[in-house]
Amino acid sequence: MPEISPRPIRFVHRGHAIALEGVPPTRTLLDWLREDARPRCTGTKEGCNEGDCGACTVLVAERDDTAPGGVAIRHVNACLSFLPTLDGRAVITVEDLPQPHPVQQALVECHGSQCGFCTPGFVMTMTALREAHAAAGTRPERPAIADALAGNLCRCTGYRPIVDAAERMFELPDAPIDRAALRAQLDALAADTSEMTLEDFAAQRLARPEARIVAGATDVALWVNKQFRDIGEPLWITRVPALRRIATDADGTLHIGAAASLEDAWAALAARWPALTEVWRRFASPPVRHAGTLGGNIANGSPIGDGAPVLIALDARIVLRRGPDTRTLALEDFYLDYMKNALAPGEFVERLVVPPSPEGTQLRAWKISKRFDSDISTVLMAAALRLDADGRIAAARLVFGGMAAITKRAAQTEAALRGRRWDEATLQAAQVALAQDFLPLSDLRASASYRLAVSANLLRRLWLETRPDDPLPASATQVREFRA
Ligand SMILES: Cc1cc2nc3c(=O)[nH]c(=O)nc-3n(C[C@H](O)[C@H](O)[C@H](O)COP(=O)(O)OP(=O)(O)OC[C@H]3O[C@@H](n4cnc5c(N)ncnc54)[C@H](O)[C@@H]3O)c2cc1C
Ligand code: FES
Ligand code: FES
Repeated sequence: MPEISPRPIRFVHRGHAIALEGVPPTRTLLDWLREDARPRCTGTKEGCNEGDCGACTVLVAERDDTAPGGVAIRHVNACLSFLPTLDGRAVITVEDLPQPHPVQQALVECHGSQCGFCTPGFVMTMTALREAHAAAGTRPERPAIADALAGNLCRCTGYRPIVDAAERMFELPDAPIDRAALRAQLDALAADTSEMTLEDFAAQRLARPEARIVAGATDVALWVNKQFRDIGEPLWITRVPALRRIATDADGTLHIGAAASLEDAWAALAARWPALTEVWRRFASPPVRHAGTLGGNIANGSPIGDGAPVLIALDARIVLRRGPDTRTLALEDFYLDYMKNALAPGEFVERLVVPPSPEGTQLRAWKISKRFDSDISTVLMAAALRLDADGRIAAARLVFGGMAAITKRAAQTEAALRGRRWDEATLQAAQVALAQDFLPLSDLRASASYRLAVSANLLRRLWLETRPDDPLPASATQVREFRA
């Protein structure tokens, strides 16, 4: 068992400051709510216990001077939230909503609930959506509602009435969360904070190289919940405010702190490269993106992770820190072999550095997965391509996830493109080279031959959209409605 947390875990729940002592650090919020809280909060349901179904969705609030009322409110999966990650925050569950809440009223009016098992999770996601739009004075369109609901599954009602309810709730009288009261409670907790400086964290990491860094725990919680693994001693990296920051240099270079949330990181990337909007929307689900970090996605090093191909196509660097010392690698050199990376003992990922793309670069990233929303990639291709004035390929970076033991550039394919006119003959030569670059595996997601075929098709799509003669708009190459 991991060691018991050495200090009380303090958070606001049901309007009161809670201090938990003697709790194993991998106790999840879901188990605590349903089994330990008094009275028990069984409105929060357990479906999958792995972040897929949304039945356990709750809201987590924290101090943020840039957010409305000085409080950022985001929905997360309680099944993936280890209790120590809540330290200094507030938890809002379905029991906290005034009854009947306009969200619940809208679900009743639109027949959005049958067995009702998924309903509390939908209610919390919809409450978060309503809060976000109320603060901005906006209302979401149906596609945006569908994106927001991507982390909640309903097995018996069907989504049309639920989406109807998400529209209807904006027509009912408001019942906003009292942010002033929350902020006062969070300020009181902040007097005894567990936050630490980057230097302190680096020193702790150096002193305890065997300890398990835990960021958003959207990978680590599954090891505990599903594989019953003992993760040993945790080091909570999201407690370092400096690592949660995203900054931009005057020349446009982006610095994404390792503990910045996936949602914030993808928002920053898509603001710079709008072609990434779809991968952002399709990366996990909003609650997973609120808890998980891009640093964790990169450090985890799964060959089907969505962050690495995109960042390698953008020629990103990774800054590693060991005690006071840092070193910078090209991200493509960080991955050594299947789930093996270049981190030395006592070292950790400090940040990702994404340079501005050279003028004229065309970026594309396409994810192939069995489900459109909230699914792991079968294959993901990210490509950065630059043509010269004659329509020749001046620069090409083609990166694939799901095609090898690590995320990898297609070196032979890039060579087949460089310096050539970007016409169909070059495309065909590149497709031949692609089959030399990769020897993919067959697994439960797809066969090797499917992976090779779909990658060659993605290359064709790239050509159709970026060729100098008659390039097609994105809307012409995709089946789904484009939701940028
Ligand atoms: C339902 C669901 C859907 C998902 N969908 C997707 C998807 O579509 N695409 C995708 O790519 N991933 C997906 N994931 C995987 C997961 O969300 C990501 O890999 C996530 O980015 C991991 O970040 P985290 O902060 O949660 O990491 P954690 O779980 O906290 O840590 C993951 C690993 O990284 C290490 N680590 C974390 N931060 C650092 C650091 N700074 N330095 C060194 N080591 C570190 C940890 O020790 C651990 O080994 C999904 C997960 C779930 C549960
Ligand atoms: S129980 Fe399914 S997402 Fe948490
Ligand atoms: S109402 Fe039954 S699962 Fe959604």
